[in-house]
Amino acid sequence: MLFKNPNATNSPYPTKLATVLNQETAHKSKQWLSTWPLLSRCATPLRSMTGTARALGINTLWIKDESKRSKLGSFKALGAPNALINLILTHFPTFEADKILLGKYREQLADFAVVSATDGNHGRALAAAAQSSGCPCTIVIHAQVSQEREDAIAEYGATMVRITGNYDESVEEADRIAKENGWIVVSDTSYEGYTEIPRDVMQGYGVMATETAEQLEAQEQKPTHIILQGGVGGLAAGVFSYFWEQYGVERPTFIVVEPRQADCLYQSAIQGKPSAATGSVDSVMAGLACGETSQIAWDFLQPSVDYFTLIEDQDAIDSMVHLAHSKYGDAPIVGGESGVAGLALLTKLAKLTQLNALSLNADSKVLIVNTEGATAPDLFKELTGISAEEIIAKQ
Ligand SMILES: Cc1ncc(COP(=O)(O)O)c(C=O)c1O
Repeated sequence: MLFKNPNATNSPYPTKLATVLNQETAHKSKQWLSTWPLLSRCATPLRSMTGTARALGINTLWIKDESKRSKLGSFKALGAPNALINLILTHFPTFEADKILLGKYREQLADFAVVSATDGNHGRALAAAAQSSGCPCTIVIHAQVSQEREDAIAEYGATMVRITGNYDESVEEADRIAKENGWIVVSDTSYEGYTEIPRDVMQGYGVMATETAEQLEAQEQKPTHIILQGGVGGLAAGVFSYFWEQYGVERPTFIVVEPRQADCLYQSAIQGKPSAATGSVDSVMAGLACGETSQIAWDFLQPSVDYFTLIEDQDAIDSMVHLAHSKYGDAPIVGGESGVAGLALLTKLAKLTQLNALSLNADSKVLIVNTEGATAPDLFKELTGISAEEIIAKQ
């Protein structure tokens, strides 16, 4: 369940990577997105989990809480909208970037159709951004996407297409529909010959990193470890690249965690190249249930991630309950199935007294990200025994 990556380096942030993702562009994205009414005006909270850190046997545990990002429910609200703005600017260079999501160019964009596959959060964010800017949008979902996740996307006016296959087949179907109709695919994963849009999605995630860096700086703190959950790898690439650039040779230890049955990044680390998952890919952590590694994300992860790790579905469910019911006395948090993966990994290792396998000890200061809230509210209540609204009332 743990692989130490022999290709991880502690070099300064490479110039070649900085031409693809960098802090300057992350700050620009932050400014563009700041006008979108669907996003919270404030930075999402960076919560210090004192009780949990003590119980785990580490010095500090911060959770960046993306359940507060937007009513879209996850950090994905930063990725697709950023990519859509960039895409529109390439076709309409005279448009003002920060006016696009305000619907200023609705009439000119009435035939500018976009399409994407999703397992939930990316599609919801794209549908919302397309609706705000006035672009027609089609979202392709696979057999395992729940009805409540489908409804949450359809709420933003997207045309929904459901296929009988899995996530990777939905990606192929979105590509096929796009070619047939002359639409543009806005995907969060990259493949041969398709890298620019997923790059802009990842750059949008960098907005979360800029906020976190500012919050840590205000406390004069620096994490020793950052743990991020992996689906196709875009989140980890978008955030780790920022902190690599920030801290250079003194960067924290970077760790990726995935569901055991959707282990494409773990397998990529073992093979030394982008590889497919070996398991069923189906997981309660729906956002992480990806079978194929994003090629462009891998360019960042291969040289920087120190450890690739795997957890079980039950580990995630236990951590959802932990956050929802304030185990160890910390303020309760609405941590969704994919959101709690970092905490689930720490808890599992602490229980096995194996924290030292990730060079964690009583001095470690660890940053994790709750990447989603109750994006499937019925399932959330079923798994935790409490609704998101009840938790928010207690916060
Ligand atoms: C809530 C949540 N967390 C994490 C991820 C992983 O992001 P990525 O696929 O970019 O690795 C996703 C992806 O959909 C997600 O929805």
